[in-house]
Amino acid sequence: MNLKEEILKLKKRLDVTVVAHFYQKDEVFELADIVGDSLELAKKSMQTPSKYILFCGVGFMGEGVKILSPQKRVLMPKIACCAMARMIDGDYYDDSIKKLNEAGIESEDILPITYINSSAAVKARVGKMGGLVCTSSNAYKIIEKGLQSGKKILFVPDRCLGQNFAKQMNLKSAIIGDGSNLKQADIICYDGFCSVHQQFSVEDVEFYKDKYDDILIASHPECDPSVCDASDFVGSTSQLIKFINELPEEQKVAVGTEFNMVNRLRQKNTFILSSTKPECPTMNETTLEDLYNCLKQLENEHDAPYVGEIIVDEDDSKWARIALERMFEI
Ligand code: 13P
Ligand code: SF4
Repeated sequence: MNLKEEILKLKKRLDVTVVAHFYQKDEVFELADIVGDSLELAKKSMQTPSKYILFCGVGFMGEGVKILSPQKRVLMPKIACCAMARMIDGDYYDDSIKKLNEAGIESEDILPITYINSSAAVKARVGKMGGLVCTSSNAYKIIEKGLQSGKKILFVPDRCLGQNFAKQMNLKSAIIGDGSNLKQADIICYDGFCSVHQQFSVEDVEFYKDKYDDILIASHPECDPSVCDASDFVGSTSQLIKFINELPEEQKVAVGTEFNMVNRLRQKNTFILSSTKPECPTMNETTLEDLYNCLKQLENEHDAPYVGEIIVDEDDSKWARIALERMFEI
């Protein structure tokens, strides 16, 4: 059986849209109807008229689509988790608020912002406190807007993203639990990180800069602040693709983000900013076979949840949606 052909036939017969993040393997990526960064995927999935969404990505992305389009049935061919999103849950979030309170910051003086890489439970708690969601492509705007409230920003879960944008905006940041003075900071970050983007280091930047005089360094804001500081361009996955596609052919560039995406960019003069292969282990788990099996079960339409179907708690969904909609308003 030719899996690719079977998938294409099933897609034609079914009322389904296949969505894939840039970090998916090529074989899955090329069969998607919609591709993009986290923000684009959330927006475009909401707009498709299809009853079924097959989301090839990680859990928070599929959950986001279900929250924004509760009438759709969202399935993930493989339930893959984002390691960073798993670093904080509802209890850890509550604990962070407690730590801020202990440092003398009242809850009513906190405006929480959660990176979209978080669970529905965390987004809901943020929504209930009047806060909102951001992605790597709109974080600057969202934080800027958040600051207008005159409150301190609690940024969860990615400390790197929080610190990188604080630096860009000339703001003071602190990380919960590292001993720094939380009260003096404008942006207080939870101590989460992405294990994939942690692999890029200043040594990697120096290696490429030493090797090629005129090379540019482009990195994702989930990289450590030391790497972003040493980069010529920092942006979301879509912003990185645009930046690299617009470079003159002869311009060398080393890119600090996931392997599958970088490998799909122009072949000449593009390098991965690491001596290891930085694949997102869970994103990378979705295979053609998973996609086929997931589509196959839709042929027998039924009410009970399908294998891999995303179901979100009703109260979490309501408040997480509010936090997501506040982002879309901006
Ligand atoms: P983007 O929103 O830039 O696609 O980032 C998502 C992500 O998880 C990067 O690790
Ligand atoms: Fe999560 Fe990092 Fe994978 Fe992105 S690359 S999905 S942040 S673990």
